[in-house]
Amino acid sequence: MRDTICSIDIGSSFTRVLIGQHDGQHLDIVGVGVIPSDGVRAGSILNSEHTIRALNRAVAEAEQMSGLNVQSAIVNISGRSIQGENSTGVVAVTNRDRIVTEADVFRVVENARNRRIPSDHELLHVLAREFTVDDQESIPDPVGMSGVRLEVDVHLVTAPRTHLTGLQRVISGAGVHAEHVILSGIASAEAVLKPGEKEMGVAVVDIGGGVCDIAVFVEGGLYHTAVVPLGGAHVTNDLSLGLRISAEAAEQLKRSHGQARERDVDPTEKVEIPSVYGRPPAWALQRDLAAIIEPRMAEIFELVDQQIGRAVKKNMLGGGIVLTGGGSRLAGVDELARDIFGLPVTVAWPRETGGLYERVAGPEFSTGVGMLMFSMKQGGGSSHGVSAGPRGESIFGRLKTWLADNF
Ligand SMILES: Nc1ncnc2c1ncn2[C@@H]1O[C@H](COP(=O)(O)OP(=O)(O)OP(=O)(O)O)[C@@H](O)[C@H]1O
Ligand SMILES: [Mg+2]
Repeated sequence: MRDTICSIDIGSSFTRVLIGQHDGQHLDIVGVGVIPSDGVRAGSILNSEHTIRALNRAVAEAEQMSGLNVQSAIVNISGRSIQGENSTGVVAVTNRDRIVTEADVFRVVENARNRRIPSDHELLHVLAREFTVDDQESIPDPVGMSGVRLEVDVHLVTAPRTHLTGLQRVISGAGVHAEHVILSGIASAEAVLKPGEKEMGVAVVDIGGGVCDIAVFVEGGLYHTAVVPLGGAHVTNDLSLGLRISAEAAEQLKRSHGQARERDVDPTEKVEIPSVYGRPPAWALQRDLAAIIEPRMAEIFELVDQQIGRAVKKNMLGGGIVLTGGGSRLAGVDELARDIFGLPVTVAWPRETGGLYERVAGPEFSTGVGMLMFSMKQGGGSSHGVSAGPRGESIFGRLKTWLADNF
């Protein structure tokens, strides 16, 4: 029996709705809807009505392609107000045999999550990284071990309550039930990382239009998450101002002739500025484009580098930096990133799926595909239309334990 699942990625540039079907092992993409976002800035929803309008269109497109009806979905969240931090929990192993049970694991994770949540924030994810039983450290699963003291290191992600309420308003405004909410960076990492990369230590950076979503993994566990409120739209804006051209022309020019490093461009190469609104064609030096793009991309990577540096030492990232998101399509972006991070850099697309993979084969689909992959792992979905999970449950409902199970 194949189950049907849906993901909604409300990005600063585009709203993407994906419908997938799975048998628990293989994921097929069966519906895709992509519509330019409206009313979303730097990952946050500023205008609900406009956002709902774009979402309705994206849902309709995906429904039409798949012939299925979207009732519930897993939804992303991003924005600079999302906080990720590490915490620890400690409990005594109380049963007579002093053997760690699932109940002890539950208690210790509860203990870790009861700390450090700002009063206006809601807990979104609790990701158990590793356990310690007495003085034995780095245990992925302590159940069945003997000891008297159980400790856990967790990564907590919290979001402002107002942000979550706004998101829920938009999703239900489009007639969809938000089944789970997941941090964009965690979803993107799920889509692009290959087996073993988390264990080697890796930082995934999803460069979107308005934000960069960062997820850092060390020794297989999630160590740090952060959102830097800059992305590809800032590069386009700089080009538009610097070359005195429209935003549309700047976007087209960036995609067709943009280069992340000025020194990689032939200084004599001329490029035609796309004519919009019937203006006569004009020309620019490709080097002038790169001279505008490079400092902005460098600024973005420096901020990302600071975030990563706050959490880990570079030598903990044997797998280097993995770039994804629409902004990672910029020519030469990996070379510039390598200069700044001083680590190996790769650009990654979502891992291959079945069905209409060619429709999501691009780095801008990592968040959406990653959400579907999570949902499949969790055994989500229903055989009747796109529906899963009990109705009326809080959108934060089962996700906490769910993510703990998956890491
Ligand atoms: N070929 C390309 N070259 C350079 N930049 C590109 C290219 N294609 C897309 N982009 C940029 O990617 C950005 C959009 O990426 P994406 O669709 O992943 O963002 P989003 O998910 O909507 O936004 P966010 O994640 O920031 O909320 C835009 O700024 C766009 O200019
Ligand atoms: Mg995005």
